[in-house]
Amino acid sequence: MTTNSDSGEIDFVHTGPGTIAGKYLRRFWQPVFVSAQLQTGYAVPIRIMGEDFTLYRGASGAAYVVDFRCAHRGTQLSVGWVEEDCLRCFYHGWKYDGSGQCVEQPAEDAAFAAKVKIRSCPTHEFLGLIFAYFGDGAAPPFPDYPELSEQGEIDVGSYIRHCNYFGTLENGIDQVHVPFTHAKSGFTKFGLNWDIPVISAGETDYGIAMYGTRTDGKARINHYLMPNILYIKGSPESAREGWREAFAWRVPVDDVSHRSFNIALIHVSGDAAERFRERQRRQEEIVANLPSSNEMAARVLAGQISVHDIEERPDIVNIQDHVAQEGQGAIADRVNERLGRSDVAIILMRQIWQRELAALAAGQALKQWSRPEKLVATSGV
Ligand code: FES
Ligand SMILES: [Fe+2]
Repeated sequence: MTTNSDSGEIDFVHTGPGTIAGKYLRRFWQPVFVSAQLQTGYAVPIRIMGEDFTLYRGASGAAYVVDFRCAHRGTQLSVGWVEEDCLRCFYHGWKYDGSGQCVEQPAEDAAFAAKVKIRSCPTHEFLGLIFAYFGDGAAPPFPDYPELSEQGEIDVGSYIRHCNYFGTLENGIDQVHVPFTHAKSGFTKFGLNWDIPVISAGETDYGIAMYGTRTDGKARINHYLMPNILYIKGSPESAREGWREAFAWRVPVDDVSHRSFNIALIHVSGDAAERFRERQRRQEEIVANLPSSNEMAARVLAGQISVHDIEERPDIVNIQDHVAQEGQGAIADRVNERLGRSDVAIILMRQIWQRELAALAAGQALKQWSRPEKLVATSGV
């Protein structure tokens, strides 16, 4: 069993094939790509939990995840051609269907293709994200997210952060960082109750309910759904828009980077929805013409610029989180840290992971996570 350094604890940080945390995460559907970024007839390489795959969208519109390399002599399949719902290799033209079955080898006898099959993984598209299942055996049913089916606009996004995924899981239930890391941000403009919250957290049927109670008695309630989903009432980006219901999946790319996939529901309709879309388009345009948030975070951490000088950027919240978490190192040191009372939610999250990974490693029963009909997150404002 792999452990976290000399702490003797089970390793929830490394997620490559064969690791215990990797086996655990692979038991759940994981988002891998933003639907709108994959056009019909195109293939892209993707890396998830230290493994490379090819993602492509066939003529039918369906998305497929198959092996990264061709079974023949191993070239990268994403550079080939999408033909109907199949993928043809760029090198010598072997063709695979979406199940990974080789269906044509132009320079070989017809009988050979039937004997060649590459790996494939089930996929499912949901509200603008492509999910895949990387575990053994049949995929579990795709979970329901009724919170996202209410009236409003759906906003889908994704970003990469250059540190281990577990740091962002911890950050999602760390309300104390907000008044400091995001001291100057959209949160300030839209009236987040600014005193330091008193944190409490409890294990639930789905993961963790986390409460940050302010001096006026109001609590911000976030939910963490095992194994890697945050559900919060997130900050609005315009005063008229209201707070947004936001789900975020934190998916390891490898052990030192991860990608967040986000779906938010914004409660606007009619003219307000149109204004929201317009403002969204303008912001995307502004950000597209600026150096990337990852680049800005790297420059801040290298001491070339100060994060306090770029607080007017529309993506400042993301940059602030990049800086705080990448500032912990690619893999945070959990042996020499000094946890306090305000870290109770993080401690609970680690205990749950330790317990479940220990059970998985020992071949014992795992907790079967289930969720109530509707989760309610609150902003505390
Ligand atoms: S390497 Fe793919 S067909 Fe030869
Ligand atoms: Fe943050």
